[in-house]
Amino acid sequence: MAWTSHPVAKIAGTIRAPGDKSCSHRALILGGLANGISEISGLLEGEDVLNTGHVMAALGAKVERLGDGLWQVEGVGDAGLKQPSIDLEFGNSGTGSRLIMGVVAGHDIKARFVGDESLSGRPMGRVLDPLSEMGIKYTADDGKTMPLTLEGRSDLSSIEYTPPHASAQVKSCILLAGLRANGETIVHESRMTRDHSEKMLRGFGVEVRSKRNGAGNTVSIEGGQSLTAQETRVPGDPSSAAFLAATAMISKSGGVLVEGVMSNETRDGFFRAAALMGAHVGAEDVGDACGERLIDMSFESAELIGKQIPIELVPSMIDEFPILAVLAAQAKGITVVKGASELRVKESDRISAVVNMLRVNGVEVEETEDGFIVTGCNGAIPGGGMVETHHDHRIAMSALVMGTASQQPVSIDDASMIATSYPDFMDHMASLGADIREGGQ
Ligand code: S3P
Repeated sequence: MAWTSHPVAKIAGTIRAPGDKSCSHRALILGGLANGISEISGLLEGEDVLNTGHVMAALGAKVERLGDGLWQVEGVGDAGLKQPSIDLEFGNSGTGSRLIMGVVAGHDIKARFVGDESLSGRPMGRVLDPLSEMGIKYTADDGKTMPLTLEGRSDLSSIEYTPPHASAQVKSCILLAGLRANGETIVHESRMTRDHSEKMLRGFGVEVRSKRNGAGNTVSIEGGQSLTAQETRVPGDPSSAAFLAATAMISKSGGVLVEGVMSNETRDGFFRAAALMGAHVGAEDVGDACGERLIDMSFESAELIGKQIPIELVPSMIDEFPILAVLAAQAKGITVVKGASELRVKESDRISAVVNMLRVNGVEVEETEDGFIVTGCNGAIPGGGMVETHHDHRIAMSALVMGTASQQPVSIDDASMIATSYPDFMDHMASLGADIREGGQ
């Protein structure tokens, strides 16, 4: 079903940021492994996270919803996971599937990992290769993609590993396997990625060592440690906040306040890039949740200027390039994104999907191997296009944001997958004054 975003004159309002997707997955996974009963509040109830909850239940945890965003998980504890009697269904979620491969790896069980069409095309060799070095067996097709069957073992060997790509999913998968391996497992990152697994493991009583070296980072974990149940409050998602921020920045007038956003330097690249492009980003400290600082963030209409995005920001804004492309389209001048070839293996090939999103809406854009170059429209994005989303939530949301400030409406071919990460997106956008309706143009 197509949806269309119509241009509006003003965007204004206050929104509480939805729970962070990365932290929500991890809270369910660690709660499911811990000894005792954990309580989680502010959980993002998006489809990806709900799938992780179902899978942890299939592996033996007791996962129960107590109320809005409030969940209780009784972990399997030191007894470990049970052999699942059903396929583990991950839907669209790379994070859920890759992290839980690391969890299954350290148990004497065999599990079949399945997902939707987009997930079934995504590379799993990046986790299967290091897990094989640790001792697991698997069967998958030649491309090392899902559906695949993984056979774990309780006597995994520890490894010292340097992932070839900057990836928090790969790091987290190895650390979760390392929890049950013999000896110390060490991951070297040449560029540090989001550190939620390390922080949350510490919150559950596990000793995780990390050491920064310039842009890089080394993390290590000793096998055989137990987790203790925790109360976890999930902080607000900076990646979801980025859509609201961009809606304010490209608007003709108005301002948006997003409350309770996690402030973490491994996640804030989009806000730093937007500030470089001339946007005003306000931040006020409002406490903490789950070992993360929380801030209320304010954004307003801005005169954006195209920039070369610093390569060192790439890992901390890896999910925000579709929405950054919308800022670039609205800006005056040229924006260059480089060093982001990982975008080719996200929920879609995000380089080609972004280029298509802009091009069908009259924006001049060049596709490169590891990024894109946008010639900004100086406040006058033509619009009028129908964007192919390729079942990618972030392409869908970015295109709808673009439609709020373009000359003609912007349509997308499907909006259903937005529920994987941001089920309240349409309501939040409407409350800010966006005019997004079902149907094409
Ligand atoms: C995530 C890591 C990132 C990111 C994804 C969530 C995580 O993926 O794109 O949305 O929660 O660990 P990569 O590790 O593949 O970069």
